Amino acid sequence: MDLDLEGRKVLITGAGDGIGRTLAFDFARMGAHVAGCARSEDRLTSLSREIEGKGHFFSPADLTQPEDIQSFHDGVMDAFGGLDVLVNNAGSILKMGGFFDVTDADWEDSFAINLMPAVRLSRLFIPTLKHSGAPRIINISSIAGSRPGEVFPHYSAMKAALSNLTVSLAQTLGPEKILVNSVSPGPVWTRSWESEAKAMSRQSGKKLHDVEEEIKAQTAESVLLKRMGMPEDVSGIVLFLASDHASWITGTNFAVDGGVTLNPY
Ligand SMILES: NC(=O)c1ccc[n+]([C@@H]2O[C@H](COP(=O)([O-])OP(=O)(O)OC[C@H]3O[C@@H](n4cnc5c(N)ncnc54)[C@H](OP(=O)(O)O)[C@@H]3O)[C@@H](O)[C@H]2O)c1
Repeated sequence: MDLDLEGRKVLITGAGDGIGRTLAFDFARMGAHVAGCARSEDRLTSLSREIEGKGHFFSPADLTQPEDIQSFHDGVMDAFGGLDVLVNNAGSILKMGGFFDVTDADWEDSFAINLMPAVRLSRLFIPTLKHSGAPRIINISSIAGSRPGEVFPHYSAMKAALSNLTVSLAQTLGPEKILVNSVSPGPVWTRSWESEAKAMSRQSGKKLHDVEEEIKAQTAESVLLKRMGMPEDVSGIVLFLASDHASWITGTNFAVDGGVTLNPY
């Protein structure tokens, strides 16, 4: 199947690491022009050095700050003159802990990174998406949104809100033929898991490699396919949703989780 994303203008938030970085490489490999942000300039610089193709735009922005969102939007519009695909990928658990460990400030911080950037960026880019021949908004949610556990209730609730917003926005934008979907990954080995492993290694005195292997093995137990995901496991569906082959799909959530949730209808 030829996804034919040549020349599409694609914005990916949180493009510095993990799933966002892999998406940036994969869209660029398909001939798309990629705009991306993250707070770390170093990660964006290395991304811009390694990525294929031309006409990309990377700029640091803290998406919890409305003024950074506005200037990133303005930079993308100056660079691209429009947009076809908005991928709201940036998100973070921020704090591991159960209900009684999580403070009001933790809830507010979670709201600021896991929900509001998607709200603000959608609002800013919808006027230009209306001029695209294949406009898409793709929100990277989480299976924690529909299957919350005891840990990180603040993150799970915000991801539920993001999936919920996806359906609402799909209805608002249906008449404009702007398609809005969410993708909900299961456990995918990225920087946040690495940080968790480093913290556990420091606390326990065990070797980092051993702790990482333990986490991977334990987490794989809850996955039907018996392994954690990698960012590459998530990007295929995002590329597909951006393509013309997905032009009759909107208001839908796709779990990409190795069979953790099993038919989350
Ligand atoms: N990995 C998983 O197991 C998993 C599972 C389900 C859902 N997800 C979701 O998938 C998405 C990507 O996760 P990931 O694991 O790939 O994350 P990651 O490896 O931690 O990367 C997150 C990216 O977002 C950027 N970011 C974080 N806070 C930001 C902020 N305030 N402003 C701008 N950029 C910011 C980070 O760069 P800076 O730190 O430099 O800003 C980084 O580039 C997230 O929405 C996450 O919730 C992940």
